[in-house]
Amino acid sequence: MPASGVETGWFPISLRLEGARVLLVGGGEVAVNKGRLLLDHGAHIEIVAETLNTVVQEWVDAGLVRHVGGRVDSTILQTVMPGCRLVYAATDDRSVNRTVAALADTLNIPVCAVDDPEPSTFITPAQVRRGAVRVAISTAGGAPVLARRLREQIESWMPHGTGQLAAYMQSRRARVSAQYPEVQDRKRIWEDFLDGAGAEAALAGDEVRADAVLDVLLSAQRAAGEVWLVGAGPGDPDLLTLKALHFMQNADVVLYDNLLPKVLLERVRRDAELIFVGKQRNRHAMPQSEINNEMVRHAKAGQRVLRLKGGDPFIFGRGGEEIESLVDAGVSFRVVPGITAASGCASYAGIPLTHRDCAQACLFVTGHARADGVLDLPWDDMADRRQTVVIYMGISTLPALMAGLIKNGLPSDWPAAIVERGTQPGQRVLTGTLGTMAAQAAEAQVSSPALVIVGEVVRHRVVSP
Ligand SMILES: C[S@@+](CC[C@H](N)C(=O)[O-])C[C@H]1O[C@@H](n2cnc3c(N)ncnc32)[C@H](O)[C@@H]1O
Repeated sequence: MPASGVETGWFPISLRLEGARVLLVGGGEVAVNKGRLLLDHGAHIEIVAETLNTVVQEWVDAGLVRHVGGRVDSTILQTVMPGCRLVYAATDDRSVNRTVAALADTLNIPVCAVDDPEPSTFITPAQVRRGAVRVAISTAGGAPVLARRLREQIESWMPHGTGQLAAYMQSRRARVSAQYPEVQDRKRIWEDFLDGAGAEAALAGDEVRADAVLDVLLSAQRAAGEVWLVGAGPGDPDLLTLKALHFMQNADVVLYDNLLPKVLLERVRRDAELIFVGKQRNRHAMPQSEINNEMVRHAKAGQRVLRLKGGDPFIFGRGGEEIESLVDAGVSFRVVPGITAASGCASYAGIPLTHRDCAQACLFVTGHARADGVLDLPWDDMADRRQTVVIYMGISTLPALMAGLIKNGLPSDWPAAIVERGTQPGQRVLTGTLGTMAAQAAEAQVSSPALVIVGEVVRHRVVSP
């Protein structure tokens, strides 16, 4: 049983098969499918099968594969298997395949019993191929239709010339490395190449034009660093914007805060340096001034710094302060909006933020108390009945918030809702009134992140049947 947190899926690797011996057990249609793949990759196939269909027979006659035995029994397998890099059990008899798999496993040779993951030690993923570029899709053998669907999507998205592009980049690697020995510099050059006209030229097979672009990149001065202030949305990774994803895939350093679930960080480039600068109430992992300094320091060292924030960076995200400090330090920056918690939580909870019948405006307020504990809020505005009030960071001050709204003129049976971990797995929605909400939240032990929505729109909550 794997330790908790250990990934139980199949571990993907790419295997060199050129010139390697591979045992294929079976001579029918299933074996033909695997045999074609193996021949494409330059394997030397040895076949054990009693009967060979016409395709396999043609391969044997043409000397492409060697037919080494008929009846599948342990004697023949034991003589052929040792020294094989892989074994495919590809007969249409599951029990025969399992016998082959068991034997290969005792010899420690990776084995695939076709369409039977249980006794297999490897499986062959669905592939998208463009020259040397391979994208493998595996669902651990559990959902082949999904794998096929994903393959179709990637097929349609991946340009036809991707193989040419990869071949071009490989052929110019030595030149770029000779001129730029630092990995970071090379990475930057190739990323700029891929983002610009160079990649387009190489994709189209125009190496002369691609070289011209590469020459310019190689001769340019080392580029200055930059900070990207990016909103990552409320948690569901499918709510990331395309631009956020692009920056996540290209950053050298990522400064992230505690609102970001792990699944979002998994979309960040694997070799980027991740720095946690999260702020929790009364517990600052890193003071704001230090976060600002960190961003400036990395950018001035020529790195592309991603300041990744939950929701939208300009909505209760201190994005304004951060860009002021960047301007002061002369560091260039870009800001990418994200879906703010109010939009994400309201949509996923089925509560419209405005409604023609009852809410002509929507007010975002913070429920965060001042250092002296006072809630310094525009109470008069908040008590207007023709609007929705969305309160961020309002859980620890919830009783005071609810009481304040009642004191300033809203009835105690005025509708209110809380959305906890909105858009994320385990999202919870509580609905009630200003008079009941604090007790409901305490009883349900609501914890951060959670958003409070106040107004008649809560009565219009609709959940899809
Ligand atoms: C410091 S503010 C940051 C807001 C963020 N910049 C945005 O635009 O959503 C943090 C507060 O946002 C709200 N919040 C953020 N993500 C949330 C989520 N997934 N579910 C519920 N509330 C969330 C909570 O009220 C939390 O205390």
